[in-house]
Amino acid sequence: MKITISLIKADVGSTGGHTEPSYRMMEASKEEVSDAIEQGLLIDGFVCHTGDDIALLMSHTHGEGNQDIHQFAWNTFLKATDIAREYGLYGAGQDLLVDAPSGNVRGAGPAVAEMEFDHTLSGVRAAESFMMLAADKCGPGAYNLPLFLGFADPMYCAGLMLPPMIRGFTFHIIDMDNTGGDSIIELNAPEDYYHLAALLRDNERFGIDSIYSRTYDERAVAVSAQRLHSIAGKYTGKDDPVALVRNQGIFPAPEELISPYAKVHYVGGGARGSHVMPLMPVPINTPVTGMYCLPLVSCAGFSLAKDGTFSDSYVDFFDNPAWDEARLHAQRKAVEIRSQGWSGAAMLPYTELEYGGFRDTVGGLIDRFAFRDGGQAGASK
Ligand code: 13P
Ligand code: MG
Ligand code: MG
Repeated sequence: MKITISLIKADVGSTGGHTEPSYRMMEASKEEVSDAIEQGLLIDGFVCHTGDDIALLMSHTHGEGNQDIHQFAWNTFLKATDIAREYGLYGAGQDLLVDAPSGNVRGAGPAVAEMEFDHTLSGVRAAESFMMLAADKCGPGAYNLPLFLGFADPMYCAGLMLPPMIRGFTFHIIDMDNTGGDSIIELNAPEDYYHLAALLRDNERFGIDSIYSRTYDERAVAVSAQRLHSIAGKYTGKDDPVALVRNQGIFPAPEELISPYAKVHYVGGGARGSHVMPLMPVPINTPVTGMYCLPLVSCAGFSLAKDGTFSDSYVDFFDNPAWDEARLHAQRKAVEIRSQGWSGAAMLPYTELEYGGFRDTVGGLIDRFAFRDGGQAGASK
């Protein structure tokens, strides 16, 4: 049978600032998911949060972009929003950018990563294991470097030297500046290695959308690569991407895929969506309390039973002392970059500055520029 895994997340309000959703919001979301399983819409479901974003992980047989699944996620976020409003939480309904989405919530604010695949538990996928990743306080390209290293660099993934993976992977990269539609380029690792790097270095514009095995034509990765401000026309919150990654067998193993997060690489998006900060790996359900909204990434692993239900328990990959060293490293890197405040690389460039306000301030000053001979300079804003 064909199974679809849908991971849909939204920030619809949080306690004491942009920290985490409230207990009641989480309980209400879990209740909705339980009801949907009982009613047969979902085979299984799991709810967690990373920072202030609630993530709904669902298995079902309705395919990608299904109206009932998307509407269910939207309504669940609306219920959590009602609770956020009732208790006066910050940013209630923040990521719900339209009044009522027509079917698919992609483009309506929530982040969506979905994968449909054959699930017969035979042939090349005798067991199906996958992980969900959720990152808060960062842009949609936050996974570019770790996914590239996991799927294209044998220094991180020795499995690439093995027969099932030696032909490499096809990367679908999306140009997130193109608001006309999903504008995608397909590049193959290893031969397009440098071209991949040339695009993926720009986390704000180009994001990995999906990755496919070239040998088996099986999809390994789905990322919610889109930009909220391209949708809303203005900044409303940070993009905070989610990703689904199938692993083992014909794909890299979890250890190969999560090792790059030990780099705690700098990403754009901490504090007012405008600062460059390291990405710290944390357990699921961690609030954002670090300096300058230290960006967080979480990763939970599941197996999928024959009937499409999730394993009886999950693995919280970063909930382990093995990652304490990386967390400390992230905090040291955060202190380092914050020590230069607003200067240069410590903040995002003008075109990427968020929260409108910074741009309004600079825009007002640009209006006052004049040529030395007195003429209006008229620079673009
Ligand atoms: P969120 O998008 O996670 O709400 O973050 C907003 C922000 O930039 C907080 O400083
Ligand atoms: Mg928020
Ligand atoms: Mg968030």
